[in-house]
Parts: sequence; C-alpha cells; structure tokens
Amino acid sequence: MNAFYADPMASFDFFTVSDDERQRAAAHARFAAQQAARIPDIPASTPLRPVGQVAVIGAGTMGGGIAMALAQIGIPVTLIDASEEGLARGLSRVRDNYAGSVSRGKLTQADMDQRLALITGSLRMQDVAGADLVIEAVFEDMGLKQDIFRQLDALARPGAILATNTSGLDVDEIAAVTQRPQDVVGAHFFSPAHVMKLLEVVRAAQTAPDVIATLMDLGRRMGKIAVLARIYPGFIGNALFRNYTREAHFLVEDGALPHEVDAALKKFGYAMGIFAVHDMAGNDVGYQTRKAQMATRPTDRRWNDLILKLCDQGRLGQKSGKGWYRYEKGDRTPHRDSELETFIVEESARMGITRQPMDEVEILKRCLYGMVNEGARLLEQGIAQRPSDIDITYLTGYGFPAHQGGPMALADRIGLEAVLADIRRLHARYGYWWQPAPLLERLVREGRRFADLQADAA
Ligand SMILES: NC(=O)c1ccc[n+]([C@@H]2O[C@H](COP(=O)([O-])OP(=O)(O)OC[C@H]3O[C@@H](n4cnc5c(N)ncnc54)[C@H](O)[C@@H]3O)[C@@H](O)[C@H]2O)c1
Repeated sequence: MNAFYADPMASFDFFTVSDDERQRAAAHARFAAQQAARIPDIPASTPLRPVGQVAVIGAGTMGGGIAMALAQIGIPVTLIDASEEGLARGLSRVRDNYAGSVSRGKLTQADMDQRLALITGSLRMQDVAGADLVIEAVFEDMGLKQDIFRQLDALARPGAILATNTSGLDVDEIAAVTQRPQDVVGAHFFSPAHVMKLLEVVRAAQTAPDVIATLMDLGRRMGKIAVLARIYPGFIGNALFRNYTREAHFLVEDGALPHEVDAALKKFGYAMGIFAVHDMAGNDVGYQTRKAQMATRPTDRRWNDLILKLCDQGRLGQKSGKGWYRYEKGDRTPHRDSELETFIVEESARMGITRQPMDEVEILKRCLYGMVNEGARLLEQGIAQRPSDIDITYLTGYGFPAHQGGPMALADRIGLEAVLADIRRLHARYGYWWQPAPLLERLVREGRRFADLQADAA
C-alpha cells in the first residue's frame, strides 16, 4: 500500500504529528498561499482598476479595522457612519488601537500620526463620490445593505468597485439593486481586520474579472491571503465553521460536556476549544437571527438551540461571568460550572436523548469530518476553487492548528476511505447532516485524494 494512503482499518492518531509531517504541513501552507492567488479564467496580466481612495461605510468593529488595514499601506480612507456616536466611537477605537501599538513599541508615534491623518470621518454618504473603492460594513441585514447599495449606485463614480463585508448574505441579491452588478463584489474581512491575515473575495454572478483581480491584489498589498469564493451561505470559511460548531453542540446534547469537547480540540492543536471561543465572542452573537429563523426552518432535521437557552439564562459568556463555563471576576480562565452541567444533562433528558460517553477521538471526528464533508461539497459546486484554498482559509482565518495542515490535507492524511466510512456511520446514526458529499464518495471509489483534484486543476 502506498504510504500516502492510510490503512482504512487502522485508527488514525490525531494527536501525534511527526517532524516530517509538520514540515509537510508547513510546505503545504506555503504552497496553498501561492495557489490561492491563481484564478484560471482571470490571468495575472489582467489590468487592475486604480485604488487610490477608499470609502468605508459603517465605523463599527469591522469598518474601523478595514480602515486601519488600508491606512497601513498608505491608502486614504473616508470612514462614513450614519450616526454621530457611531462615528465618534469608531474613530476613537481606531485611535486607541494605534495608541496601544505605540505603547507596546510596535508602532512609532510618527507612523501613528501618519496613519490617523489618512483616515477621515464623515456622516455624509455623498462623500463616497471620490472613492475608487467603497467597502460597506454596516449591520448584517439584507434590507439595510440593499438600501446602502442603492445609494452607492446613485452616488459612487462610474467604475468604482462596490464591495460588501457581509459574513454570508447573498452578494447577488445586494448587486441586484444596482445598475452596475459588474462592479459589486464581496470583501469578507475577519476580525480584527487590521490584524487577521485572511480576506475572502466573493465573486458574484456578474462581478467583472478586473474587479476580482483588483481585490485579490489589494488583499496581497495589505499583507493578507486573499481566497476567492463563490456565493454560498457563509462562503468557504463560515460554511465549514457552521458544521464544526453544529457538531460540537450536538456532542454536548449527546453526552459530552463542554470542557471535554474543548480538551479534545486543544489536544488536537487548537489554541482554544470552541466553547471557550463562544464565551469569548459572546453567546448572543447571531441570537436574533437564529431566533427569527426558528419559525421557518425545515423540520426534517435536527437543530441545536442550546446556545439560545444559555442566552435566555443570561449566560452570555465572559462578559456576564458565565456561559459554557464560569468565570471569576477579572479573570478569563474558564472553570467548569456544575449548574450548567446539570442543565445540559436535563436538556438531553428533555429531548429524549440517552447520554453516552464520548471519547476524544469521536469528538474530533464529529467536529472535523463535518468540515471535510462540507469542504467536498464546496469543491464539487465550484464555491472553492481548490482543496488548498479551503486549507489556507482555515489556517489563516479560523485558527486551525498549523501542524495539522488544514481540514482537507488532514483528511488526505487520514485516508479518505476511513473518513468516508466514519461519515457513513455517523449518517446512519444521526441522519440528515451527515449525508456523504458525492465528491467524497467518488474520490474514494476512484482511490484518489483531495490533493489529486488539486493536480487536476493545475
Ligand atoms: N464582527 C465580526 O467579527 C465580523 C467579521 C466579518 C464580517 N462581519 C460583518 O461586517 C459587517 C459589520 O459588522 P460589525 O461587527 O463591524 O458591526 P458593528 O455593529 O460593530 O458596526 C456597524 C456600524 O454600521 C453603522 N451603520 C448602521 N447603519 C448605517 C448606515 N445606514 N449608514 C452608515 N453606517 C451605518 C453603525 O452605526 C455601526 O457603527 C456585518 O455585515 C458583519 O456581518 C463582522
């Protein structure tokens, strides 16, 4: 048997990564970063549109960070917000961020002054008129974003690129309200936008090739890895992430406790487990949206509402002193919380689930193989261009352990036959969410790996 194809009968060791494998993972990440820039139907010689002046709409967490990322490479930015407080808060956050870097010796006072001088606040949408690129970063609300794009259509200069920082809304629906859908594109930055290395560039149905090329190049100039995605709920990154968190939550309903899931993920190499991450980000992120979706979501599959119940109990995470863990005042160390654990056990019983112990390998398989299966779907539908694009998205934007190479490379290392066998087992047991991706089944039938698809595409 070829050493690359693991014996499907042998159990894979998720925790031991040899020096040789670590080196291969590092080489894979370098290769993936180079590959991401390549777009088969948009040659590297495509003339770029000028990006001399940018307007960012929405001076919140993302807008401020995006403005800083642009100022870092010397591009003047007009940061526009609808409310005076919003703008003032945004500008002072930018100033505080820079001041923090200066006090830590990471930035000189002169650089701070220079960058601040490049960022101008405004309360007038008309100020987009001089921009070559507009990046919208208002609340995640389709109606609001469409309203902004209608205004941009009327106010921006012809040929200006109109980008949205949506985390997952349909960019075609946003483009459709304009008379210039060829200029509309997704520019999905990650938080904090001036630090995080990933930029997902989202290609809508009518986005012009030179718009894509210009944003990919801008990402590179900002020191980021730009990865091209097509429209899909959550694009590449959040689509896989949805599968990862869903299984983590189902695991808790089925028998694991939050600290057990987190311990397995940390042993695999994540800096933090998913429940500690939820507590840090705030369990109420997306609360309203999820509540609203409950009424209309399909009833033929299992859903997980535990996090909503935690919010209803005031368990918002670190900020409220309790969430999936308990926190002492002024300390971010997560502690097990017996009150929560009792609640979880009661919830399982209420749902008619007989809790079963989950070992760390089963925890990892459920958290990781859902991502691999979704990754295969994205490849099949052309949402992601190549397997290594998914890996680099995960390595740069989602804290996937670098030495594990990324979800798709990991699946190749385990052996797709073994991964599919587990996905089929989980499908038989848990149903809907584990339907094997047809591409994964085909690769196994043909005795191929994700890396072979990469070679096909090259
Ligand atoms: N926060 C994240 O981690 C993150 C990551 C990636 C993408 N995103 C996406 O970025 C976008 C912004 O998210 P955020 O976290 O920065 O939100 P936020 O709530 O911090 O900021 C939104 C800002 O938009 C302003 N605003 C609202 N309506 C406006 C209007 N009509 N005109 C001008 N300004 C207006 C608000 O005053 C506020 O300052 C959302 O689409 C979100 O999904 C967020």
